[in-house]
Amino acid sequence: MIYLDNCATTRVKESVLDAMVKAMTEDYANPSSLHTFGLDIEKKIRSCRQEILDFLHGSGNLYFTSGATEGNNTIIRSFSKDKPQGIILTSPLEHASLKEPIQDLKNQGFKVKTLKVDSLGNIDLEDLKEKVDQGADLLALTHVNSELGNILPLDRVLEIIEGRGIHFHLDGVQAFGKIPVNLKGVDSYVFSGHKIHGPKGIGGLYIRNGIKVHPLVYGGGQEGNFRSGTENVPGIFGLYQAVKEARNHLEENYSKVLGLKNYLLENLEEKIQGLHIHGDLNQSSPYILSLAVEGTRGEVLLHMLEQDEIYLSTASACSSHKKEGKNPIHQAIGLDSAESIATIRICLNDELSKEDMDVFLTRFKEHVETLQAIIGRC
Ligand SMILES: Cc1ncc(COP(=O)(O)O)c(C=O)c1O
Repeated sequence: MIYLDNCATTRVKESVLDAMVKAMTEDYANPSSLHTFGLDIEKKIRSCRQEILDFLHGSGNLYFTSGATEGNNTIIRSFSKDKPQGIILTSPLEHASLKEPIQDLKNQGFKVKTLKVDSLGNIDLEDLKEKVDQGADLLALTHVNSELGNILPLDRVLEIIEGRGIHFHLDGVQAFGKIPVNLKGVDSYVFSGHKIHGPKGIGGLYIRNGIKVHPLVYGGGQEGNFRSGTENVPGIFGLYQAVKEARNHLEENYSKVLGLKNYLLENLEEKIQGLHIHGDLNQSSPYILSLAVEGTRGEVLLHMLEQDEIYLSTASACSSHKKEGKNPIHQAIGLDSAESIATIRICLNDELSKEDMDVFLTRFKEHVETLQAIIGRC
C-alpha cells in the first residue's frame, strides 16, 4: 500500500500506540481523583502540556480538546459572546471547521469580511491592511492551507495587525509538527493529533496569556475549568508521544519530505502531459501537493489508483462530505470547473520512500494516459 492521504490522517506510530496502551492499562486513574494514583497522572499531563507549549514557543495556556474542529469552534463561539457587534476577517481558503462556525455567525447577522486571494492561493496583504484599517476584531486564518499547502507569511501578517487590538486566531493543523512554529504574537492556535501520527480525537487549543476565551463545554471544570469532561488520558499521552517524535525529527523529516516532493514534481513535469500545479511552490509545505491533469477527473484517478492500493484524495476530507459540488478553495483561486474536477491532492509523510514515489508515478502516468485517450476519443 502507498498512502498519500496524510493530510486527512496518518498512521499511528508504534511508540504512540505503546504510550496509549500504557495509559489505558497502567496509568488509568482519573487525573481529577484525589489519591496519589490520580495526582500522578495529573502531574504527567501537566508536564506533557508544558513540553508542547515549549515546542510551540507559546506563552499562554494549552488546553487538550477533541481536535482542531472543537478548538476552532471554541474561538468563534467565544467571540460571538464577547463581541456581538464585532467584525471578523477571514479568507475563502479556510477549512470547514473554521469556515462553518464563521458562516453560522454571519447567518446570525455578524459582520464577516473575506480577504482577497490571488491565483496562487496567497492572501492579498494589501487588502488585509486596508480591511484592518477599516476596523476588525477577529482575524481567523490558517497557517498551512490544507489543500494547496501554502504557508501563511506569519511575520508579515503580524506586522500588519500589530497594536490594532485584533484577536489573531490561527488554524495550525497542517503546520504543527511539520514546519517550525513560533506562536509569538498569535492569540490562539489549534492543532490535531491524528495529522502527526498521533491518535484521532485529541488536539490542542493554545490561548496566549491575557486573552480571554469562554469555554465551549461546561461541566466538572477539568482543564483549569476551561474544557470540562474527564481528560482523554490515552489521547493526551499518545499525542504527547507523537509530538516528541515530530519535534525530535522535525528538520530531518522536513528535508526528507521536501526531497520526495521535489522528486515528484520533476518527474510529473517530465512525464505528464497537461499538468497544472496549484498553490505557490515558493512558499509551500513540502507535505502537500495539489495538481490537475488536463483531460482527467480527480475522482476517477483516485478510484483507479485505489485498485493499485495507492490512496490519495481530491480535496480536504471534510469538504468531500459537502454536497454542493463546488470546491470553495478552487473557486477562490480561479480554477475553472474542468480544472477543479481534475484536481488531486497528494499528501506526503516521513514514512514514504523514493521507491513509493516511483510506483505512484508509473501507475499515475498509465491511468492519466488511459483517461486522456478515452476523453480524446469523445
Ligand atoms: C486545516 C485543518 N483544520 C482543521 C481540521 C480538523 O481537525 P480535527 O480532525 O482535529 O477536528 C483539519 C482536518 O483535516 C484541517 O486540515
